[in-house]
Amino acid sequence: MKLEMLKNEFEGKLITFCGLDGCGKTTQIKRLVKWLEDNGHKVYLTKQPTDFVRESEIFRTYMDSPDHDDYDYRALSLLCASDRVQHSNRVISQKLKEGYIVISDRYFYSCLANLIARGFKEDMWIYEIAKSIRKPDVAFFLNVPVEDAIARVRERPEERNRYIDIPLQKKLHDLYVNIARENGGVVVSTVLSEDTCFERILLEVKKVVEA
Ligand SMILES: Nc1ncnc2c1ncn2[C@@H]1O[C@H](COP(=O)(O)OP(=O)(O)O)[C@@H](O)[C@H]1O
Ligand SMILES: [Mg+2]
Repeated sequence: MKLEMLKNEFEGKLITFCGLDGCGKTTQIKRLVKWLEDNGHKVYLTKQPTDFVRESEIFRTYMDSPDHDDYDYRALSLLCASDRVQHSNRVISQKLKEGYIVISDRYFYSCLANLIARGFKEDMWIYEIAKSIRKPDVAFFLNVPVEDAIARVRERPEERNRYIDIPLQKKLHDLYVNIARENGGVVVSTVLSEDTCFERILLEVKKVVEA
């Protein structure tokens, strides 16, 4: 599961956050953006996949309904991968060139984890595509037990009754830890308080932005 990604040779830094829905990405990213801006850094906040994919029928069907057999998951995965190639090389790279600290809510690792979790373990094209994607300077993987992540999602009023594929979340949970380990990612447990987690995140971020 080790990926050979492009080196970031630009002035800016790339920081990414992956992990289950409800693990705390948005919460921690918000804090980080504020801290970076308060400390005089130019920040560009973005997310993957982009709205182009999020608004597509195939993506919505997979996210919102247990009945998605009319679509081949690889078709969605390739769409997401295509979106990530475009986003990495025409949006993120541009901002890195301009010296921004780019923060991405989810990244290519999510594409890999989801493809494997859906059972496509032999699909090597994902590793080929990874070669066109820039490697983050810091890749955070926020980690929380699946039950806690689901409870946090359910606390959001608009998501109280949302469809969640629990066995899939369990697979993703384990895959994220493996992907982090094999690609030099930083696993942060968000079972701990928001403050404690943020301190841990900041420690890693300071190593690259103050270097
Ligand atoms: N250590 C922590 N870090 C981040 N969020 C936490 C933490 N502990 C509890 N939470 C809560 O978990 C929820 C995470 O939601 P969110 O940040 O939207 O997750 P995600 O963007 O990963 O789906 C929030 O309600 C947040 O208050
Ligand atoms: Mg979020």
